[in-house]
Amino acid sequence: MTAPHSSTPPFNPPFNPPDPPPSPADSAIDLRGRTALVTGAAGGIGAACALRLAAAGARVRAVDRDGSGLDALRARAEHLPGAVEAVHLDLTDLDAAEQAAAGTDILVNNAGTQLVRPIQDFPPEEFRAVLTLLLEAPFRLLRGALPHMYERGWGRVVNISSVHGLRASAYKSAYVAAKHGLEGLSKVTALEGAPHGVTSNCVSPGYVRTPLVEKQLADQAALHGIPAESVLTGILLADSAVKRLIEPGEVAEAVVYLCGPHASFITGSTLTMDGGWTAH
Ligand SMILES: NC(=O)c1ccc[n+]([C@@H]2O[C@H](COP(=O)([O-])OP(=O)(O)OC[C@H]3O[C@@H](n4cnc5c(N)ncnc54)[C@H](O)[C@@H]3O)[C@@H](O)[C@H]2O)c1
Repeated sequence: MTAPHSSTPPFNPPFNPPDPPPSPADSAIDLRGRTALVTGAAGGIGAACALRLAAAGARVRAVDRDGSGLDALRARAEHLPGAVEAVHLDLTDLDAAEQAAAGTDILVNNAGTQLVRPIQDFPPEEFRAVLTLLLEAPFRLLRGALPHMYERGWGRVVNISSVHGLRASAYKSAYVAAKHGLEGLSKVTALEGAPHGVTSNCVSPGYVRTPLVEKQLADQAALHGIPAESVLTGILLADSAVKRLIEPGEVAEAVVYLCGPHASFITGSTLTMDGGWTAH
């Protein structure tokens, strides 16, 4: 009997040796000598990730379109063992984004935006803009970053997805579609990167205490005609078993863990930090 797909050539990835075994006694993550690029680094989760990676010794390229936010970040990073370089860039300039990623060992795709609107009222140009920033820019950054990672035989890609990469909510068509796409892109990156020592994972939080969520509270309060406090407890945290927002620093700890030596076998996966939301 003919084997199914017999015309497909066999996939024989080269044997790749494991990273040096991490010592169980050594839980500190040392990223000295690594260059990390974090998008959307001027605030919220991105700033927390940039600071945490610099604290682990990495040279961090902090990419954002918010120049004053980047200046503030650099000031906060001054005392850290690594360094933070500000890269003032609008990631919707996709060619520039791809070029900016050249030479990075660690890529954290974090920049994001949100628009809450029923599908029939969702402006098509806004839908496209969300997909460009949340999905196409990460693809272009990967195109820029992977050749150097493959050359070095080591790389880490961490995509800040969301519980909305795994579950849907009404009125968030573009965001949910983009984050589901990012989860898929991350898995493909994991498969292609494995023979080259490159891992790719998503970190998928529930609601984090950032300016993005503060804006959503205001938007949803206006949409439903109720106070912002009721949006938090009654809507945003309705499916979360843990009834609080996550802090950006908690997300950054998960990101740096995925970049460290104990995580070299974790790839193509999603680390959900959703307070039990997807346990339902
Ligand atoms: N906050 C949450 O509750 C939450 C939950 C799950 C996932 N996330 C995801 O985490 C990521 C970060 O979210 P956040 O809450 O920290 O957001 P935030 O709004 O606080 O920060 C986003 C950053 O991205 C930058 N940015 C936006 N558009 C850009 C562009 N075109 N070019 C360059 N920079 C741009 C902004 O200037 C800002 O500094 C997003 O991908 C978001 O979807 C957030």
